[in-house]
Amino acid sequence: MTTVPTAREGSVGTAHTRVEGREKVTGAARYAGEVRFADLAHGWFVLSTVARGRVRSVETAGVLAMPGVLTVLHHGNAPRVDTGYIGFLGVPPDPSCAVFQHDRVPHLGWPVALVVAGTSEQAREAAEALVVRYEEEPHDTVFTGERPDAYDVDGHVPAVTGKGDLEAGLTASAVVVDAEYSTPEEHHHPMEPHAATARRDGGRLEVVDSNQGAAWVAGDLARLFSLDPASVRVRSEHVGGGFGSKGIRAHQVAAVMASTVLGRPVRVVMTRRQMFSLAGHRSPTAQRIRLGADADGRLRALEHRSVSATSTVYEFVEPSASVARAMYDAAAHHTANRVVRLDVPTPTWMRAPGEAPGSFALESAFDELAEKCGVDPIELRARNEPERGPVSGLPFSDRGLLACFREGARRFGWADRDPRPGLRREGRWLLGTGTAAASFPVMARPSTAAVTAEADGTFTVRISAADIGTGARTALTLVAADALETGPDRVRVRIGDSDFGPAMIAGGSMGTRSWAWAITAAAAGLRERLAAGTGVPPQGITVRSDTSAAVDALPPKERHSYGAQFAEVAVDTGTGEVRVRRMLGVFAPGRIVNPLTARNQFVGGMVWGISMALHEEAVRDAASGGHYGADLAGYHVATHADVPDVEAHWIDDPDPDDPVGIKGIGEIGIVGAAAAVANAVWHATGVRHRDLPIRPDRVL
Ligand code: MOS
Repeated sequence: MTTVPTAREGSVGTAHTRVEGREKVTGAARYAGEVRFADLAHGWFVLSTVARGRVRSVETAGVLAMPGVLTVLHHGNAPRVDTGYIGFLGVPPDPSCAVFQHDRVPHLGWPVALVVAGTSEQAREAAEALVVRYEEEPHDTVFTGERPDAYDVDGHVPAVTGKGDLEAGLTASAVVVDAEYSTPEEHHHPMEPHAATARRDGGRLEVVDSNQGAAWVAGDLARLFSLDPASVRVRSEHVGGGFGSKGIRAHQVAAVMASTVLGRPVRVVMTRRQMFSLAGHRSPTAQRIRLGADADGRLRALEHRSVSATSTVYEFVEPSASVARAMYDAAAHHTANRVVRLDVPTPTWMRAPGEAPGSFALESAFDELAEKCGVDPIELRARNEPERGPVSGLPFSDRGLLACFREGARRFGWADRDPRPGLRREGRWLLGTGTAAASFPVMARPSTAAVTAEADGTFTVRISAADIGTGARTALTLVAADALETGPDRVRVRIGDSDFGPAMIAGGSMGTRSWAWAITAAAAGLRERLAAGTGVPPQGITVRSDTSAAVDALPPKERHSYGAQFAEVAVDTGTGEVRVRRMLGVFAPGRIVNPLTARNQFVGGMVWGISMALHEEAVRDAASGGHYGADLAGYHVATHADVPDVEAHWIDDPDPDDPVGIKGIGEIGIVGAAAAVANAVWHATGVRHRDLPIRPDRVL
């Protein structure tokens, strides 16, 4: 082994297919619901049929006599758990995961029992036969932005920020935009439903699960069940999507309870329909934006207020107004995220929480301001580039927004655009183009990794990372190869195992950056050891890293990824149908580790933006408190026929404070995408759409 840098080209930045791709397409990759266990029993959730009240009785006798039924867990007999702790991510757990602890029903679809049987069919049949009686109470699930009971709450970010005199700024402005925007309740629905199998083995608890952080779920299970953290192991090697929904949830807790009670492995899988109330969702938002500007479009006043909904059991805030805190400055600058409590399931992170709905409102309002000022929308952004963080006052680490717009405008052909709306017709179609800006915070969290030099000259990396379909495992293989100055074919990256130690989750667009940092640090230590030593013993040489100190030492700056989104739409004047004809995004996303999978991330986000703009909407029925059409027939998402030519590009933009130059690409692709589509619909028709989705009945 040598530490002299070789002339070989690095692997970071070159296209690699997924290291586990063959396993996935041949079916050899086992997902959490398919890993084989001897003596496996199956649990099936029974969910409440009332939206508020108490469970009066769970009538188990008949069901316990049904074929294969082993037990029925409910609030009267389930093991107790402890939710009084601060979790892995620095917040208390949502008590929704702590099933069967009391008789209260806080929303429709709340787990009231788990029927466990020898096969999943037996469990399902018995679950459907189980009689649960309720004391029903009146419920309230109707969300509007005008609710007087909305209140400020500091979620992941402060609720309210403010500087300058807003009303004076607006009064002094030559041009004012004052508009209200709304986005509906939206759901994640990863392809692979949530699934967990728990096994108690002596003093050990082993859980095979589908999640975004094995160490996160293991840590929370240890606390919930008051177990020694070292005795809990969670594995989650292959994950078929997550998007924020795959943390600690009811299914893991129920599986652990049942396996504890029965003394055998128990699997709990959510059905697609159950996911509508058990997996978390994005809250609806009602947003108001007021912009005041001089005639040339320079902002004097900016206000962004957002109201979202949470459950009665936990405060979760969709921080939509926070996007304005990074994007645009004004002498008077005010933002507020408020929340209202309803008898609904607790919402959770869903891809670009805050930024996705917030950018729809803010970037739509900017388009309205451009129209009113008669300034090109891109030029308007250029005139409002902030010098420092509008709220933090911190310097920007770098700000690639205008570079994205320049490159996007060139590729999209923006220069020839006639800004006037409603002019371009092609048969029954009206045509238009639109653009919007995107940003997403760049952060890192402490992680640990172990890198082993094996006796055969290969390397093994162990890190409790999660690849939720992003290609993270492949990216980490490339990062490790470069850090070890070897080829990716000599590096094996093992992930998804809490026994590998604490690591950041796949979330907040921070996963790959945080994990790569830890791997780079361990690899550097290993290379020093190898340079100093006399050879590799049969058991190999392992070096561990912990990036806590390095991550904490990051100098405070405004760090963000940026993007410019462009869309061209055709609007059918007869039916009101909006078809996206092309979509183009240019991103300043930090160093790209693997262009092949990075492109997937951007295109996936943009397609989700099309879906958000035109299709997605979970409609709640006020009478029952549940959804109409809680399935993927009723909940519309963009399908192949809805998705045109989508192009994603990026500019070279390495982060100066990251060892690999990574920023994070998981979420920036959806930010601004819906606004670009909505702005294009205005350009086509001359009508502003401030409520998503832009359904045909709203267009007509
Ligand atoms: Mo995400 S909402 O960081 O999985």
